Parts: sequence; structure tokens; C-alpha cells
Amino acid sequence: MALAQINPTSTNAWEKLNQHYAQMKNVSMKEMFAKDTARASKFHIQWNDFLVDYSKNIINQDTLNLLQELAQEANLKEAIAQYFNGDIINQTENRAVLHTALRSPETANVLVDGENVMPEIYAVKNKIKAFSNEVISGQRKGFTGKAFTDVVNIGIGGSDLGPAMVVEALQFYKNHLTVHFVSNVDGDHVNEVIKKLNPETTLFVIASKTFTTQETLSNAETIRAWFLKSAKQEDVAKHFVAVSTNIQKVTEFGINPDNIFPMWDWVGGRFSLWSAVGLSISLAVGFDNFDDLLKGANEMDDHFKTESFDKNIPVVLALLSIWYNNFFGAESEALIPYTQYLQKLASYLQQGIMESNGKSVGRDGKTVNYQTGTIIWGEPGTNSQHAFFQLIHQGTKMIPTDFIGYVQPLYGNQDHHDKLMSNFFAQTEALLNGKTEAQVKAEFEKQNVTGAKADYLLPFKVFTGNKPTNTLLIEKLTPKSLGSLVALYEHKIFVQGIIWNIFSYDQWGVELGKQLANSILEEIYSGDVKQHDSSTTFLLKHFLDHK
Ligand code: F6P
Repeated sequence: MALAQINPTSTNAWEKLNQHYAQMKNVSMKEMFAKDTARASKFHIQWNDFLVDYSKNIINQDTLNLLQELAQEANLKEAIAQYFNGDIINQTENRAVLHTALRSPETANVLVDGENVMPEIYAVKNKIKAFSNEVISGQRKGFTGKAFTDVVNIGIGGSDLGPAMVVEALQFYKNHLTVHFVSNVDGDHVNEVIKKLNPETTLFVIASKTFTTQETLSNAETIRAWFLKSAKQEDVAKHFVAVSTNIQKVTEFGINPDNIFPMWDWVGGRFSLWSAVGLSISLAVGFDNFDDLLKGANEMDDHFKTESFDKNIPVVLALLSIWYNNFFGAESEALIPYTQYLQKLASYLQQGIMESNGKSVGRDGKTVNYQTGTIIWGEPGTNSQHAFFQLIHQGTKMIPTDFIGYVQPLYGNQDHHDKLMSNFFAQTEALLNGKTEAQVKAEFEKQNVTGAKADYLLPFKVFTGNKPTNTLLIEKLTPKSLGSLVALYEHKIFVQGIIWNIFSYDQWGVELGKQLANSILEEIYSGDVKQHDSSTTFLLKHFLDHK
């Protein structure tokens, strides 16, 4: 069944939210906290080892009720069932969206075209397990009989960002294999990676759902040519494996059919780390840790599917984001993990969020008359505090921010962790309360700053506060908790796409640039510049004259 087509602005809830916004826009969170000492205990969700405190938002119970009404009017409950049941919710590509099946238990029954896909999923999972064990144990060897020491994942977009983010995030759980990622068609990227490698002990994983992506095929060909300088054609079978839906193209590339890890068209690229695209994760941290990552995601899937909207973490975070995006006019959101391990989380989620919900045509085929896709950005704290936090604290824009932190450090360095977490708590408190004129004056008095100097400096030292934040305090960074965290944001994307009445699982917007690049490449090869706008012609000619 197709997803409902409901323009959110035509709902009763939207109208009521507009009126409610007029009452809430100048409300002080600080005052709401002062009036209601139980605010944090009302506005938080405790689930597994996650504590999600959303009390530092410009909301009251009415706001939450109205946002939930909006979700109901948008048919969210039915849409969630359609998502998990394998309905064709990616309508423009005529596909189901079933990355959730990849992390379901073997006993589940998930139908695509009337056939249960779980046996196929588990056949591939078993293949990943056996292959990872053989490589990690050294049983599988390279062409000179040596065990593998390095793995290179060759892929881009969803075939790169997910595995790269997770391998980085789970470094603590890593084995002896060094895992590299080559993505950019920039030849300097692949050369920088190649120069660290020994062809005898390196395994290459070509990850490409379509196996037609220019960047990935160019890098794979460059690497194969480099490999063949020291090895023979028949050695390719020992060193190159592929993850793809396009078995024919992979075979044409020369990869042994035994070395192909299939995936399916119902797995979107940006949601594919749970599939065989996660092979480099399984190689880096072992299959059991990869499986725990999947289990954590599956637990979040169950929470999302079954929990009422008011206690449902992805639903609540998605609705809050809509509140700021569509009523306050917030232009972007920040995501600040207080762990260096999650340094790639924001760039990973940039694809997830912005490729999914960066759409301006509704499911009814009409241009939307409201804002959709949020802009997401971020870097780990505390580094980001010394980089861009100035703008969040005192800039002119509202930037709702998610803070993600962990109770336990991984190496047990408690002193560092206490310092890190003191910053984590201090930032959301500062963003909430700001600093008043009276507080600044009191500080001046203590510092003996007086007279004209004090008057001059006063406005610069005031912080308005009232900046919304969510705090996700998680027990420990483990494969399982990471799986839950990533699935949380995936479902937040889904909820927002449903309410915004857009299709979240296609990405036509990346096609135009690809098409034009192909025709410009021919002009560069031939030196014959065709008719463009005068700027493009001028730049192309300059490039050709100087290259
Ligand atoms: O950027 C567009 C895109 O299609 C992404 O959605 C995808 O993750 C990426 O290209 C890579 O595609 P493939 O895995 O087919 O090489």
C-alpha cells in the first residue's frame, strides 16, 4: 500500500501549532525550569542504557500534545507499519525499504514480493562471518602465502561513510587488521592510501550497490593495476572481494563469484552498513561485534515500532526538530558527541539526513509550501567548543543541538572523563541559562572592572541563553549501543519524511551533477569545449590551457 499523501500544513494540528508558537516563541526556558522543579523528570525518556533528556527545549506539555497530534494526523502509526512490513514506500524507485530486516532475528518473517527474505539475509551474514573469521585468524592468505594485515574498503557515499564511521567509532574493539577507506575520485586520495600498503598482505573490498559509480570503479581499477604490478591476474581472486547487487558487473570486473557478497535493492545506500557493506566493520572488529551492532539497532527498531509516541525516542526527537524547523524557522541542527570515537558521526548522518529529506516535492508530486530537510553538522566536544560554539552561544541563529555523551570511558581514565563530562553538562546548562547583565556586573565587581570600561564591555559579555538542546546520556560506547544510536537517527529521518509528506528513500538530486560531469569529462578528454554558460566555458578553457 502507498504512503498517505497529507500536506502537514493542511492538518488541524499544524494550525494549532502555529497559534501555539505565537505563545511560546518568547517563553523563557529558565523561567519554566524555575516554576516547575519536576520538569526534567517529566521530559525525559529512559530506555535500555539510554537516558534522553529533552527538557531543555522551548516546549511545554501542550507543545508535545500538539506535535503528537500532528504525527497522528500524518498517519505516522500506519506508516511505521508499512515501513517494517516491506510495503513499497520508496515509490519513485518502486522499492521497499527494509534495512531493518538486516538486523531482525532469523525467525522473523519479512516478505518482499511474497517471499520471506530472512533466509537470504542469514546466508549472507553467515558468509560474512566465515570470511571475517578466516581473514582475522590468518587462515585465508594472500598470493605469497602471507596472512592479511590490511583491508581497503573502496566505495563512496553509503558504501563508505557508514563503515568508515563505525570502524572509527569501534576502534577500542579493533583487532590487528588495519582498515583503510578510499572514496574520492581524487587520485591523490587513492595514492596516499596505496603508498602505505603491501600488495602481498592487503585485501580489497569493493563496495558498490550499483557497481556503476564512477569514483568507486576508477579507484578499483587504479588499485587493481597497482596490484598487478607485483601479482598475476589469477591472484586478483585472492585479494579482491565485492559487495553489490550487480553480480554481472562484479563478475565482469574479474572478481571470483565466491568472493561476491550480495545485497538487495531494498537496502538504501545510506542505510546499508547493516548489510554486507559492513564487511569491513566485521573484518575490523570481528563478526560478533558486528552482530552486536545489529542487535542494538534491532532493539531500537522494536522500541520505535511498539512504544507510544510520547515515550518513543525517535518520534520525540523528530517532532522537536519539526517544531524548530517549521515554526521557529531554525535552519540547521548540530550534533555534538562527547567522544572522539564519534568524530565521523555528523558526516555520516549528513548523508542519512540530507540525502533523505533534502526534498522539495511532496508525495503528491507538488512543490511543498513549507520547510523540509534540516541541515546537520557537528564535531566532537570539547574540540568544537573551541571552534564553532561561539556562534551557537552568541550568534543570531537558533541552532538546536543534540549532545551525546557516555557515563563510562573506555580506557577507564576517570580524571579525563570527569573533565570531558563536566564540559558536556556545562555547555547545555550555559545554553539554557545564558548569563544576565546582573551576573556580568557582579563578575566585573569581583574583577575590579569599573566605569566606562565596564559599561562598554557589558553587552558583549551577556549571553541570552534559551538555546534548545537534547542530551543523550548513554552508559558506554559499545557495538550494541552504537547500533541503537544509529538506528535512532534513521527512524528520526523516517518520521520527519512522513510528516513532511516527502519520499525519504530516493536521491534524484545527485543525478544531475553526475550526468553533467560525464559530458564535461568527454570535453576534457577531447579538448573540445562545447556550449556552456560563459562562466563554465571560461573556467574549462583555463583548466585545459594550464593542465
Ligand atoms: O550519492 C548517491 C549515491 O547513490 C548514494 O545514495 C550511494 O550511497 C552512493 O551514491 C554510492 O552508490 P553505490 O553504492 O552504488 O556505489
